[in-house]
Amino acid sequence: MKKKLVIANWKMNLNVAQSLSLLARIDKNLDRTDDVEVVLAPPAIALQPLSQEIKQNKFLLAAQNAYFKDEGAYTGEISFTQLRGLVDYVIVGHSERRIYFGEDDKMVRDKVQSALRNGISPIICVGENTDQRNTGQTQRVLHDQLTGALGNVTSQEIEHIVIAYEPVWAISTFEGQVAKPEDVKKAFNYILEQIFELFGNQAAKTVRLIYGGSVDDSTVSGYLNAGGCNGVLVGGASLNPEKFSNIVKTAEQQGQQ
Ligand code: PGA
Repeated sequence: MKKKLVIANWKMNLNVAQSLSLLARIDKNLDRTDDVEVVLAPPAIALQPLSQEIKQNKFLLAAQNAYFKDEGAYTGEISFTQLRGLVDYVIVGHSERRIYFGEDDKMVRDKVQSALRNGISPIICVGENTDQRNTGQTQRVLHDQLTGALGNVTSQEIEHIVIAYEPVWAISTFEGQVAKPEDVKKAFNYILEQIFELFGNQAAKTVRLIYGGSVDDSTVSGYLNAGGCNGVLVGGASLNPEKFSNIVKTAEQQGQQ
C-alpha cells in the first residue's frame, strides 16, 4: 500500500521565527507515525532553520518552488542543486506560479527534470480553472499539463513523482469553491488513464496522486476516501496547528485501515 502524504504549503506566510513556532506547535500535537509522510513546505528562508529543528523521520521538507538551471546569473532564484540534501520534495507548477509568475508547461517540464536529476521528488500540480471547467475542458487541461510536465520522464522515474490535482476554482485564496470527492475521483481516474497510456501499468500503480484545494480537518476524510487518493496538499488550514494536526491524524487513521 502507498504511504499517505500530508503536505503543508505555508505559501508566502510567516517569517523564520513564526515558522519555527508553528513547527513546534505541530510537533507537540503529533506523534511520529510510519503510516503518513508529513511534509512541510515553509517559505524558502525558513527551510534551513527548520531542517535543524525537525525530528528525524517525523517531518520531511519541501520547497515551494525552485529554478531549473543548476547555477549562474539568475538573480533571486534558488536551484534544485542548491536544495539537494535539504529537501525531499519540491512543489512544481502550482497554479499560483502559473498565474502570477507566468510558468508554462515547458518550464514545469524543465523543473521536473532538474528535480529528478538532483534526487528531489517533484510534486506536480495540475488543475483547471473555472472557465475551463464550465466549458468542459477539464480533461484537455489535465492532459496538456500532464504531457507537458512528464515529457522527458522515464517509466522508472514515475515512482518518485507525486501528482497533485488542484482545481484552481477550489483553491481557497483564489475562487473559493469547494470540490466534491466525486470531482476529485473523476480527475484521478483521468490522470491515472493518462499515466497508464504514457508509462504503462506499473507506473499507474506506483505514482502517487494527492488532492489540494481548501482541504481542512472537516473535509479531509472525504477526499482521502475518494478512490485512489494518496494524500492531500493543504494551504490555508496548514497555518493552523490544530487543524493541520487533525488532518494528519485523520490520514493516519485511514492509513491503518
Ligand atoms: P488551500 O491551498 O488549501 O488554501 O486551498 C491549497 C494549495 O494551493 O496548495
